[in-house]
Amino acid sequence: MTNAKILTLIGGISRDSLNKKLFNSIQELSLKDLQFESFDISKLPFFSQDLEMDPPDSVTSFKERIRETDALLLITPEYNRSFPGVLKNAIDWGSRPYGHNLWEKKPAAILGASPGNIGTFGAQHHLRQVLAYLNMYVLGQPEFYFNAKDAFDVEGKLINSKTKELLLQFFEEFYEHISKFNRPDHNIKEYISHGLEDSPFI
Ligand SMILES: Cc1cc2nc3c(=O)[nH]c(=O)nc-3n(C[C@H](O)[C@H](O)[C@H](O)COP(=O)(O)O)c2cc1C
Repeated sequence: MTNAKILTLIGGISRDSLNKKLFNSIQELSLKDLQFESFDISKLPFFSQDLEMDPPDSVTSFKERIRETDALLLITPEYNRSFPGVLKNAIDWGSRPYGHNLWEKKPAAILGASPGNIGTFGAQHHLRQVLAYLNMYVLGQPEFYFNAKDAFDVEGKLINSKTKELLLQFFEEFYEHISKFNRPDHNIKEYISHGLEDSPFI
């Protein structure tokens, strides 16, 4: 497999977000065979079941981007030992309406940065729980918990070469992981679509 398309969702939406800096640093690694794209999830409205059958344009284009991508990269800050609501909101949009879960069978990986000592451990494990329920194929190892307090220079570039090395290893494994699900006998674009009348939730 060459050139896996990776849609990246970043849970940090502030101007100086550490997680945005982490994503910028990943792009600067110029990783062979990985083509990164991102979607600004702050542009999505709050999820409401009143909107899900006829969603606004921002949601329709978000869903299109999920359908087209080979894999997802989720980069999350830690908020109160979990991941931010803005990221959960985006995940909820992609999972609805019932029976049209666009995350189904998509390969995914999680990264995260915070200025705290556990470096998003709590956030990542809550996020894993949600992605497992949505039946995404989430990379198990390596894990990447990042205390990013003094990790970037004034231009937002990663200072420590060891971190770059760890990221290179991470993406080598992620590429292998994505390739497993992109064999001719395994259609990663497939997703289920039950009839809405089957839903236990309506
Ligand atoms: C509501 C809130 C809760 C937070 N809770 C945690 C936490 O549980 N653990 C942690 O390490 N940092 C916590 N932080 C600090 C964030 O990790 C820090 O602000 C980080 O820079 C946010 O990510 P960003 O820079 O990508 O926006 C919290 C920040 C906010 C605003």
